[in-house]
Amino acid sequence: MPVNMRGKSLLTVEQLTKEEMEYLLDLSATLKAKKKAGIKGNLLEGKNIALLFEKPSTRTRCAFVVACIDEGAHPEYLGKDDIQLGKKETVADTARVLGRMFDGIEFRGFKQETVETLAKYAGVPVWNGLTDYSHPTQILADFLTIKEHFGHLKGIKLTYMGDARNNMGNSLMLGCAVMGMHFVAGAPKALWPENSVVEKAKEIANNTGAVIELIEDPKAAVKDSDVIYTDVWASMGEESKLQERIEQLKPYQVNMDLIRATGKEDVIFLHCLPAIHNYDTDMSKNYGAMEVTDEVFESKYSKVFDQAENRMHTIKAVMVATLA
Ligand code: CP
Ligand code: NVA
Repeated sequence: MPVNMRGKSLLTVEQLTKEEMEYLLDLSATLKAKKKAGIKGNLLEGKNIALLFEKPSTRTRCAFVVACIDEGAHPEYLGKDDIQLGKKETVADTARVLGRMFDGIEFRGFKQETVETLAKYAGVPVWNGLTDYSHPTQILADFLTIKEHFGHLKGIKLTYMGDARNNMGNSLMLGCAVMGMHFVAGAPKALWPENSVVEKAKEIANNTGAVIELIEDPKAAVKDSDVIYTDVWASMGEESKLQERIEQLKPYQVNMDLIRATGKEDVIFLHCLPAIHNYDTDMSKNYGAMEVTDEVFESKYSKVFDQAENRMHTIKAVMVATLA
């Protein structure tokens, strides 16, 4: 059956079928080639797009803005102090107002429930630009980068090192499940994804042939991996946990020893960014490297800036697929 995503929201990774994910990745590649050829687009001409951010963002915000303008849409940034969302007005009411004025709504924030409520009431497509639970547009950029590098996703073994219970741990595990890949979380048990999420991934994996593993030993986790992925040890909103996480996650830092422990010379390193590879987030305290060393971050294995660029091409594909 041909894929038709018009009018749909993108709220989680696991809502996507394999066919929808493939369609979005193919469309991303087409739109990327079009941009590289210098062709100005009009696929989103006349569309107004609301960008709601409760949390800060560099890549996601800029990707939405540039993607809109490339294809003729108007983006409107609405930060947490700009609108009443959930404070003086219910999320449902804000959703109904924005839905009368905008053609699509991006939301980044804390609760998954907020983006689900927006989608329920807005009457226009809503896209999750990151919640505590999920980061679906990031997964599209990650998979496009892997596809560009290896030519395929099937058979790829991706190991995610670090805080496996955060939005990236959940999303990579579920994304690999959908695409029939081999996912490993290399993390201490205390930071494994919630049981219900693991169960969901395994259920999807049963139908796609994916393999889902949770492994405590860092070297055993990365063995034979094609992709080593990591993320910050304390996500947005969890900064107070940083000291505790440093203790828990030090053995899971992605350094050259760990890259060598894959046993693969063509392994690639990915990170959703921002990354703490040589300084603290607020630049005031120098902790040194955290989840990844400078040596790996700057090495030939690292594809993190290809990946960051791909945020824009994939987000553009999501808007085009659901609106155009
Ligand atoms: N990867 C990512 O979502 O980056 P931003 O927080 O800068 O949007
Ligand atoms: N887990 C990180 C991802 C940032 C893109 C966070 O939520 O802060």
